[in-house]
Amino acid sequence: MQRITAFIRHLYGEPDAFIPLHAPVFAGREREYLCDCVDTTFVSSVGKYVDRFEQMTADYTGAGRAVAVVNGTCALEMALRLLDVGPGDLVLTQALTFVATANAIAHTGATPVFLDSDPDTLGLSPDALLRFLQNDQATGRRVGACVPVHILGHACRIREICEICAAWNIPVVEDAAEALGSTLNGKHLGTFGQVGVLSYNGNKTITTGGGGMLLTDDPALGARAKHLTTTAKQPHPWEFRHDEPGWNFRMPNINAALGCAQMERLDDILRDKREIASAYRDFFTSFNGAQYLDAPTGCDANFWLNTVLFEDNTRRDEFLEFSNAHGVMTRPLWTLMPELPMFRDNARDDLSVARNSCDRAVNLPSGPRLRGVQS
Ligand SMILES: Cc1ncc(COP(=O)(O)O)c(C=O)c1O
Repeated sequence: MQRITAFIRHLYGEPDAFIPLHAPVFAGREREYLCDCVDTTFVSSVGKYVDRFEQMTADYTGAGRAVAVVNGTCALEMALRLLDVGPGDLVLTQALTFVATANAIAHTGATPVFLDSDPDTLGLSPDALLRFLQNDQATGRRVGACVPVHILGHACRIREICEICAAWNIPVVEDAAEALGSTLNGKHLGTFGQVGVLSYNGNKTITTGGGGMLLTDDPALGARAKHLTTTAKQPHPWEFRHDEPGWNFRMPNINAALGCAQMERLDDILRDKREIASAYRDFFTSFNGAQYLDAPTGCDANFWLNTVLFEDNTRRDEFLEFSNAHGVMTRPLWTLMPELPMFRDNARDDLSVARNSCDRAVNLPSGPRLRGVQS
């Protein structure tokens, strides 16, 4: 226990101070762009930074279109609505995820079904997906979408998932909220399914304070995403004409300004995070009792959070107690979705892999360091 926390303190060059799980680093033009918003008064729904941030994200990820919204949860909900998911539908996702994935599905009126994960990726298991599809035809309910999650920035087996879903005519919404900067065989995560979603919450690889992004290669879906998230307003120099009940999900200019400055430094941030991952990997190679969860084959991961698996739940809890009591912030994975009261009655698969990983996993401090950063 003590050896791990001492190593983390050494890694972050912090002998005494509190070490957070993931804190943002503002070492670029953040202040300049934020002041520009304040000075010009364009802090809200009008201004140049939203278009710029969307274009930077489309260029970086290779997505045909990127649409910026107020957070990742809204982005997920909107992605599902774009694909006509609604009341009565089932949406297949994984039990091991942050609650936002399941909440977004539930808010469309659809019912999330919780499937198991793969042990090496922690993402949705294509085997579990196929098993469910082959066994569940008796219920007769439409499967409106499948939402695999790229947990911790590691790629799930997304190609296989997309192939299965294509065969069953089910659209895929990729929850890539944690995966900005991660690729699988050179293709950015979030660009495999019909729609992908990113998050810029304060604990993510880069932040806009709060924010999310929809990614799609389908021009019609992209245009519709923009329209629906901006109150479904028809373009006109002064009239207020709205052609359907839309949403006010547009990312404000001041958040997008922060995003532009963060995007300019994304490569530096990723380099630093990958160095941290490499140091953890080396350390745990010669550490008995905890195993480093590396990126899956073919995945160039952002290492959003570095994770280790302890031998059992007791050891995991001992380490959580010790590290947090000694000023090093560590966290378990999330409570599995069907163990939360609102999803207790939802259909689920055998969740043995998800349960086993959850019982043993701890996330370690993984934020980019200030060291070596030019201000
Ligand atoms: C897997 C996953 N999905 C969705 C979200 C929701 O994003 P947001 O917090 O921006 O609403 C998050 C993160 O917070 C997440 O980790």
